[in-house]
Amino acid sequence: MTLLLRIKKTAIEPEKIAQAAAVIKRGGLVAFPTETVYGLGADAFNPEAVKRIYAVKGRPVDNPLIVHIADLAKINSLVRLLPPEAGVLCARFWPGPLTLVLDRREHLPPEVSAGLSTVAIRMPDNPIALALIRAAGTPLVAPSANLSSRPSPTQARHVMEDLAGLIDLIIDGGKTAIGMESTVVDFTSGPPRILRPGAITAQDIEAAIGPLALGGGKSVRPKSPGMKYRHYAPRTRFILVEGENFRHDIRQLIAQAAKGKKIAVITFRQESSYEDCLVVHAGSSSRTVARRLFEIFRDLDNRGMDLIIAEPYPATDGLDMMIWDRLKKAAGTGN
Ligand code: TXA
Ligand code: MG
Repeated sequence: MTLLLRIKKTAIEPEKIAQAAAVIKRGGLVAFPTETVYGLGADAFNPEAVKRIYAVKGRPVDNPLIVHIADLAKINSLVRLLPPEAGVLCARFWPGPLTLVLDRREHLPPEVSAGLSTVAIRMPDNPIALALIRAAGTPLVAPSANLSSRPSPTQARHVMEDLAGLIDLIIDGGKTAIGMESTVVDFTSGPPRILRPGAITAQDIEAAIGPLALGGGKSVRPKSPGMKYRHYAPRTRFILVEGENFRHDIRQLIAQAAKGKKIAVITFRQESSYEDCLVVHAGSSSRTVARRLFEIFRDLDNRGMDLIIAEPYPATDGLDMMIWDRLKKAAGTGN
């Protein structure tokens, strides 16, 4: 049985937080809202609870988790050393959508970081998340609260769709503000490097600490193990069209499809129009698109589409990188 608790961000009831924290303390799994996406939380120092997270998500055991903290002082108990530049980023962007990969301390259960010598840490910018972590009195590991490879949940109902019956409790704290996962920055191998683009952009980080290492580094062994798996994907076949002739190419894809097939086209431009398909305008600002894209993927799956096509994402601002990354991952054309 999965319990559902509704909590308003603006009027947090301490007894509900205490109820959720009690579930964490006894080794249970609690889905909770953050500013990016919903997380599936467990006590980072309870190896059995951490293992259960991998099991219920169907997550590959070589894909490490992010540890969520509510107070900066906690970081010293998790990492061996906080490089000065990493400290600058914490001071500047926490709480916020930024995850730092650092060298871990030995006493953290190895399952947390899938046997690596490093650990990913972030402080989420959501009052419910922060209250839960504080009340639990322990850092929480929390991957996105979806089944592995599905789009991350931006609403409690998405969590229910994937995990009802498999976890102990879901806190419904409304829609998440950003809608896509945090920026992950690695500090453990040379100059800091972005492993996953998010709402804290490369420009934001460079303005704070100077140049980042370039490129994600397509090494044989991916630095961020999660990056090698297909991610964020609708179940429906999904094609991301690229290039300048995208309208022509999309019309051709529609024309080539068998009669009676249900096709949806996701657009990012008000003026785009297509026939013989369902046109879904995801929004014209990057904030809106980020907030809505995963929800659109899920809704189109639920409507029984045969094919989803997306226009190329236009260059707009610093959030481009994040949105392109998620579109490419969903299409299976990312790195
Ligand atoms: O916004 C977010 O980060 C959300 C919310 C819930 O906080 N969480 C999230 O977690 O997206 P997850 O597990 O879905 O993605 C974590 C990413 C994966 O790509 C994983 O491989 C990477 O972080 N990661 C975790 N620990 C790492 C480590 N020690 N070294 C390199 N990459 C790591
Ligand atoms: Mg995830």
